[in-house]
Amino acid sequence: MWKGRFAKATADLVQEFGESISYDWRLYKHDISGSIAHARAQLKEGILTEKEFAEIEDGLRAIEKDIDAGDFQFSTELEDIHMNIESELTRRIGPAGAKLHTARSRNDQVATDTRLYCREEIETITGLVRQLQISLLTQAETYADAIIPGYTHLQRGQPVTVGHHLLAYVEMLSRDTERLLDAKKRVNVCPLGSGALAGSTINLDRHQIAKELGFERVTTNSMDAISDRDYILELLFDFALIGTHLSRLSEDLILWCSSEFGFATLSDSHTTGSSLMPQKKNPDVCEITRGKTGRLYGNLVSLLTAAKGLPLTYNRDLQEDKEPLFDSIDTLKLALKVNAEMIAEMTVNTETCLKAASDPMLLATDLADYLVKNSVPFRQAHDLVGQAVALSIQEKTPLDQLDLSKISEHYGADAKDVFSLQTALAARTNPGAPNIENIKSEIQRWKDQLL
Ligand code: ARG
Repeated sequence: MWKGRFAKATADLVQEFGESISYDWRLYKHDISGSIAHARAQLKEGILTEKEFAEIEDGLRAIEKDIDAGDFQFSTELEDIHMNIESELTRRIGPAGAKLHTARSRNDQVATDTRLYCREEIETITGLVRQLQISLLTQAETYADAIIPGYTHLQRGQPVTVGHHLLAYVEMLSRDTERLLDAKKRVNVCPLGSGALAGSTINLDRHQIAKELGFERVTTNSMDAISDRDYILELLFDFALIGTHLSRLSEDLILWCSSEFGFATLSDSHTTGSSLMPQKKNPDVCEITRGKTGRLYGNLVSLLTAAKGLPLTYNRDLQEDKEPLFDSIDTLKLALKVNAEMIAEMTVNTETCLKAASDPMLLATDLADYLVKNSVPFRQAHDLVGQAVALSIQEKTPLDQLDLSKISEHYGADAKDVFSLQTALAARTNPGAPNIENIKSEIQRWKDQLL
């Protein structure tokens, strides 16, 4: 493509080191749509005749079909997807093909392709996030009132329900979707026409190109347009954060499935055995999800680092954007799919959950609230209940079986009524609290939104 000024061919090792076709071939459809829109603008400008435009369009569509069918020979010498397609087009149709790169550079071309690709993947990934939310929601509905301990510091805190716990993840994932849809506004901008860095003296209709490609607007600074990778970085962050959420969910499920907790059971088809210990049933999907979150973080940090010291505008370092992007997208899509399927088939062992939640210590805070309602200042109430807790531990007597009136006259005969899980949940009527009615209305709200 650039033989004019060179006396020697590119060294084999340089080709091997610099090629991107082994991974950027997956941009072929976006590259072809971009080229057709570009050619149509050339037609309007009088650079191509109707006949030449038709040859280019048909030629590109034929190449697309061949790539679809796996019948296309990619060449490393041609470095990347852009040159592979352009060169094959010219080989097939001759002179018209040689006009296609007028008023275009691979710099605005690759930015256009990647933006189209990201836009498409945002659709796919938000769809998969939604599927996972639906799995969580369905289980939340089944176990809306299955009481479990809620934890802080992994120490039992206060009672909640499985439904409430699972809906917390539905919330996180909905913020993830919002973030992706917001990022889409910055992805969906057309850089084509920015050329290598300073536009072109041949002015094609950028708005027409943007419209044909479904972009919302055109970029407004040619130098920024071809060196900007913020939209990829932003997505890599959004993917990393989805990874964080999946990883936390995984950790909860790993604990829930342990013999020590025993709250949940994953289906045989979503667990693995041990080659040695016959009794084992391991939550590998959860562990792999947790582990793969490391790659999602790594991909973000890798591109942040590659981009940080670059002078304007395009530098070849930017080619390092694609592998992290593709890897995060592939990793995340599979993780979302397998988790949605696994959660849909999980069962919750409601009796074990209830047993764990029936520890009266979980209602120590409610006992303090009881004293507050009897006009005891909260700090004093906290202290009085603390004394009761200490006594319970010392005398090995459950909190709800102590004679509380011995500790303080503020404890009336009705103090023991506090020790009902149903009462405890029913009393929490404020928005966001695990009152069963609240949980059910949240489930309905999510159903209306997701189904
Ligand atoms: N394969 C290149 C990339 O992904 C395309 C742009 C190359 N531009 C250049 N001036 N060498 O970044």
